[in-house]
Amino acid sequence: MLTHDKIERNVGLLVVLTVLTISVAGLVEIVPLFFQQSTTVPANELVKPYDPLRLSGRDIYIREGCYNCHSQMIRPFRAETERYGHYSVAGEFIYDHPFQWGSKRTGPDLARVGGRYSDLWHRTHLLNPRDVVPESNMPAYAWLDRPLNDNDIEIKMRALRKVGVPYTDDEIAGARGAIEGKSELDALIAYLQGMGTAIKQVR
Ligand code: HEC
Repeated sequence: MLTHDKIERNVGLLVVLTVLTISVAGLVEIVPLFFQQSTTVPANELVKPYDPLRLSGRDIYIREGCYNCHSQMIRPFRAETERYGHYSVAGEFIYDHPFQWGSKRTGPDLARVGGRYSDLWHRTHLLNPRDVVPESNMPAYAWLDRPLNDNDIEIKMRALRKVGVPYTDDEIAGARGAIEGKSELDALIAYLQGMGTAIKQVR
């Protein structure tokens, strides 16, 4: 008989059984996520792959470390849904590689910031947050008002296609044209304005 005594006095056995328990528990939790509809198909037909401008904007978001202060995940609690809108669902992030859920909220959650402000508001805010929110301690991103030079856009789209984002050859071929003449600010704002708009805000 394998009693608790035996396991606790035999470090090797304890390690093996601990690893086994955690592995099985992990698999039971994680594996179904690869097969459930709610995590593998878009939440609705409005969830679309990022167009080239938004994709570039997303990379600027990552480059500038916006995720250090902003999460993109509204939890299903009343305090959150009253403030930010409908809680986030997995099917909204199907084309996000990697997703930007984050966990640090020095600033507000941005999961449904799309459409909340005008483009001009964002432009002013990003160049100097204090111009629109006097008490803000968000840094100014004045350098973003420069031409967007995303020479890797086609490569990035092709890489995303490999992990399941359904970009067509035409979309990839037209990507450079689509972002030509735009600034980094334009791209970042396009990204922000698309955020969370597939699921309507419930207020
Ligand atoms: C040091 C922390 C910090 C960083 C880094 C940061 N922010 Fe913020 N952000 C804040 C704070 C605090 C607020 C709330 C005050 C305000 O509106 O300025 C805010 C507000 C915002 C808002 C308005 C949200 C709302 O619902 O009112 C947007 C949009 C935003 N930030 C975008 C960004 C983007 C894009 C970046 C990266 C380029 C960024 N932030 C980087 C702290 C930060």
